[in-house]
Amino acid sequence: MKKYYIFFVFIFYVTSYDVSAAIYKGQMIFATHCVECHTGRVSFIESHTKKEWNSLFKNRAKKIIAIHKSINDEEHTEALSYIQSARFLKKYRNLREFLVEYAKDSGKVPACN
Ligand code: HEC
Repeated sequence: MKKYYIFFVFIFYVTSYDVSAAIYKGQMIFATHCVECHTGRVSFIESHTKKEWNSLFKNRAKKIIAIHKSINDEEHTEALSYIQSARFLKKYRNLREFLVEYAKDSGKVPACN
């Protein structure tokens, strides 16, 4: 019995740890690659519900990539090329976790940093 208990505590610890690590990484991506254009930070994150963020990130972030592909902004070429890169496709899930965590209907506000 005790063994099972420890096992469940362990699983809980591992899964909750993973999620907060993803949210943290997502926040870093947002701060590095999105804030320079989406300056509203909190208001931008809160501009969508969880469902809307999930839909924007569907099919490997297809909509988000498509929106930014059509933008021609010479001041932010690096951030724009990041969104279209393989690096973004590896990490976009973290960004989704972060945005969903603090979405309009989440009742949470991210700490400033
Ligand atoms: C070069 C500046 C720039 C960068 C960098 C940028 N965006 Fe955008 N983004 C825009 C513009 C311009 C639009 C289209 C106009 C609008 O709707 O605000 C847009 C639109 C969007 C939209 C759809 C509009 C909405 O609110 O539904 C989302 C979602 C979005 N961006 C997310 C992101 C994310 C996530 C990042 C970081 C990975 C990012 N953007 C980085 C300029 C940028």
